[in-house]
Amino acid sequence: MDYKILGWINAISLTIVVAPFALNFLSRKLFNSKNKDIRNIVKYLRKFHKPLGIVLIVIGIIHGYMALGSLRLHTGTLLYLSIILTGALGGSFYKAKKRIFFVWHKRMAFVSVALLMLHYFYPSAIYYLLN
Ligand code: HEM
Ligand code: HEM
Repeated sequence: MDYKILGWINAISLTIVVAPFALNFLSRKLFNSKNKDIRNIVKYLRKFHKPLGIVLIVIGIIHGYMALGSLRLHTGTLLYLSIILTGALGGSFYKAKKRIFFVWHKRMAFVSVALLMLHYFYPSAIYYLLN
């Protein structure tokens, strides 16, 4: 399988994983949080949150290794590290139920989405910085 297809599977997974948060945010802004259709979609999408988080961790590294042929510093590597950290914080919150893990889970989710934008639009950004 082509690394590009795996890259898109990752990007779509990340979109579905953050969709409940994004939809709730929009719903609050647009409909004062009372929209029943959005609530049902969010409820449905939440079923995929943890499985797709794990998909990202597994397929992310396969995609990256196939794309570069080795493990080295790249915007994708930064994105992957951010995703690992996000997933670890989500798992920690799930196990320990400590609010601080949830706060940082959400902050790192935001960083991951930002790094996906960097990785997609400026994949070689780090090379420009280093050279
Ligand atoms: C170990 C981590 C990773 C490495 C080393 C890596 C590396 C790469 C490289 C070298 C490319 C080609 C960029 C170019 O055209 O110059 C690429 C494309 C891409 N990557 Fe990654 N990546 C990693 C992780 C990820 C993750 C976690 C995601 C998504 C959440 C992702 C999504 C994508 C997408 C959507 C593309 C564009 C594919 C296309 O051209 O159609 N990558 N990646
Ligand atoms: C790796 C990519 C992941 C991202 C980007 C991500 C992102 C998010 C975001 C933005 C929220 C807030 C949802 C809201 O406030 O509506 C959330 C909630 C949560 N996440 Fe994650 N997450 C990821 C992986 C995981 C994993 C692997 C686990 C556990 C094994 C996990 C466990 C949770 C839990 C327990 C919640 C709170 C309950 C819920 O809203 O479903 N997350 N996640």
